[in-house]
Amino acid sequence: MKVSVIHSQTTIEFDWNTALLIPIFETKLPIQCEILKEEQEIFIQSIIDRDLFSGKENDILYVPFASPNLAGVILLGLGKKEEFHEEKMRRIAGSVINYTRNNKISSIVCDWNYISTEYIPPFIEGIILSQYIFDQYKTKNANEDKKTNPITNVTFIVSSEENIQTLNNQCEQTVLICNTVNMVRSLISSPANELTPQSFTTFAQNMFQNLPLKFQVLDKSELEREGLNGILAVGKGSKNEPMMMILEYQPSSSNTEKQVVIVGKGVTFDTGGICLKPHEGMQEMRYDMSGAAVVLGTMYILAELKLNIPVIGLIPLVENIPSGSALLPGDIIKMYGGKTVEVLNTDAEGRLIIADAMAYAQKNYAPKKIIDIATLTGGCIIALGHFCAGVLGNDKELIKELLHAGNKTGERLWEFPLWTDYEKLIQSDFADVANIGPKGEASTIVGGIFLKQFVENNILWAHIDIAGTAWGVKHIAYWDSKYPTGFGVRLLIQWLSQQ
Ligand code: BES
Ligand code: MN
Ligand code: ZN
Repeated sequence: MKVSVIHSQTTIEFDWNTALLIPIFETKLPIQCEILKEEQEIFIQSIIDRDLFSGKENDILYVPFASPNLAGVILLGLGKKEEFHEEKMRRIAGSVINYTRNNKISSIVCDWNYISTEYIPPFIEGIILSQYIFDQYKTKNANEDKKTNPITNVTFIVSSEENIQTLNNQCEQTVLICNTVNMVRSLISSPANELTPQSFTTFAQNMFQNLPLKFQVLDKSELEREGLNGILAVGKGSKNEPMMMILEYQPSSSNTEKQVVIVGKGVTFDTGGICLKPHEGMQEMRYDMSGAAVVLGTMYILAELKLNIPVIGLIPLVENIPSGSALLPGDIIKMYGGKTVEVLNTDAEGRLIIADAMAYAQKNYAPKKIIDIATLTGGCIIALGHFCAGVLGNDKELIKELLHAGNKTGERLWEFPLWTDYEKLIQSDFADVANIGPKGEASTIVGGIFLKQFVENNILWAHIDIAGTAWGVKHIAYWDSKYPTGFGVRLLIQWLSQQ
């Protein structure tokens, strides 16, 4: 999608596929738009004066024109000015595409004289994210309704006092970020026969070819040499061997004391292993690498935008599947760093690979903060549904920063407690810890408290459980519930750019 910001006086070319979009608060402002001919302006004004359009939130009216040089006007209701915020802008923009699609509009010119320019990025986000489709595997005419008439051009007209250069740069960044989120969504959508640990790393390698980032993959024998036994244990049932991808982004001018490590759960398919999951809905478990895809996307954006913060991305990749060589209940793993874990359920596999990756990060780098992101527990969906992700960690300030970043990007988080009492739930008779707690008890917290065992006290750490938000979010216009969301990419970028 092409996006540009121009000053009011600039002349623009219109055609039959272009509509003028006017965002309007619930107050009856007189419409004054240089683009409209006088009689068109009077016509639009009369619609407002007759209360045919109110400006209420989500009130959208498309008015087609007969003139050959402009398809029509989209009046976009924003609701009350004092109650407006970025997330509303995103959602309202997300609903615009239903109108443009049906009316063969591929280009919109937005009169941004009635609304602050801070709402330009969330508007773009709403449009790009809501237009996402995944049809790589359809051989004919799929999604025809959605494919026709996507918006390919958006122009914002702003008042002559605005700095166009800054706004255009912002737009360019927003487009890059959203395109990356959509790439992440496609990676998550990909079936597990196509997306294995091996093909995931190949894909990533191609992606980073010309970017200032060190790319490294540990294959099975290197995992063995390093003693990354948590990752090896989970992966040993599959002929698709486990791997760990290491992405180092260290801008030369950056302060290495601020180093951040982000870890993403990369289970390319989670059958549950020997503790096999029920078959209904099991196909959804191809999304169990969402955290990994989010870390990949985040690293890509960092390197593309050349943000000035050193970040190491760790992506452990495995397929959790039963076989004659699979991990067994009762097995005891000597994890990276030496702690022992009794595996009471092979379906609690994500924590094993993340724990190893985090221990590796602390041994081989000097992170100040670690964030891990994972589709870790079904219990998180039971607790929070699909409207926010869970967050747990060992530092109040860090949690606050993340909550704040999430509110800003519309990827909301909700904190769970992580009191040491919960450590009682993972006591093991035979090893240092067990990988699960009692059935049905606080499973999201148990996942967090397990991970906490692998974080040294001087490191600030937070764990984000995206089991409920990575896929299937309904009722939010820019997140089609059929598709993954890419939840976490914009949040991590927002948080990192504040570091
Ligand atoms: N990948 C799943 C988490 C999950 C389950 C996400 C269902 C979405 C829907 C994870 O590996 C898992 O299986 N977790 C178990 C842990 C349990 C065995 C302690 C769970 O949450 O049921
Ligand atoms: Mn599992
Ligand atoms: Zn899993």
